[in-house]
Amino acid sequence: MKKLMILLTATILVSSIATVVVAVTNGPAEIKYTAKIGTVTFNHTAHQELAECATCHHTGDYNQCKSCHGIDPHAPKPKDAYHKQCKDCHKELKKGPTKCKECHIK
Ligand code: HEC
Ligand code: HEC
Ligand code: HEC
Ligand code: HEC
Repeated sequence: MKKLMILLTATILVSSIATVVVAVTNGPAEIKYTAKIGTVTFNHTAHQELAECATCHHTGDYNQCKSCHGIDPHAPKPKDAYHKQCKDCHKELKKGPTKCKECHIK
């Protein structure tokens, strides 16, 4: 009986933790980048349906790109990292914007 209670408690704990983690790690629905040539609006939720998380979060964590890019000398500069990741996929799939003013909107 005692064992069963422990097992039950553990199960409840694990499932409630899992719920919290899912809610947190999906991140923001939309991200806006302000740049001099125009603001880029990135629909994160829509992109989550188009690709695996690890395609973009390539280091397996969900830290901000600029926590490495612009700091770690082995990582491409932030502008190049975003441009490469965003544009390469759009080019490859022939879907999504590839021209400056399709992404950077004044
Ligand atoms: C697929 C979308 C996309 C396209 C196409 C694109 N960009 Fe960007 N660009 C971004 C994102 C995202 C950032 C990151 C902004 C940040 O770091 O805050 C960025 C950053 C920049 C920055 C640095 C931010 C700043 O204000 O200094 C410049 C400059 C820039 N882009 C110019 C261009 C030019 C020029 C083109 C066309 C040759 C272009 N971009 C095409 C998405 C795009
Ligand atoms: C098409 C690319 C792409 C896909 C797919 C994607 N993300 Fe993101 N995600 C981003 C970008 C870009 C950011 C903004 C990070 C930045 O600019 O520093 C972000 C931000 C986040 C953040 C917030 C990070 C922070 O600390 O601000 C979390 C959490 C996150 N994503 C989780 C996920 C999860 C979970 C999945 C899969 C279900 C996923 N993402 C799929 C590109 C993507
Ligand atoms: C924990 C550190 C870290 C985080 C977080 C991170 N990167 Fe990187 N990234 C690197 C390093 C280091 C490299 C260079 C070595 C390599 O290719 O793995 C790199 C390489 C890249 C490349 C070039 C890959 C190639 O094939 O040339 C792109 C594009 C890129 N990152 C985009 C992003 C974007 C966009 C984000 C945020 C969604 C991000 N990275 C988050 C460390 C990181
Ligand atoms: C793994 C592939 C992939 C990556 C990486 C990716 N995209 Fe996209 N993106 C797509 C596809 C596919 C579409 C077209 C969706 C459609 O037409 O239904 C799209 C559409 C878009 C659109 C137009 C539709 C909308 O959501 O408003 C914008 C803007 C956009 N992407 C910005 C970005 C930016 C900024 C990044 C980098 C931070 C990025 N994308 C990274 C695949 C990708």
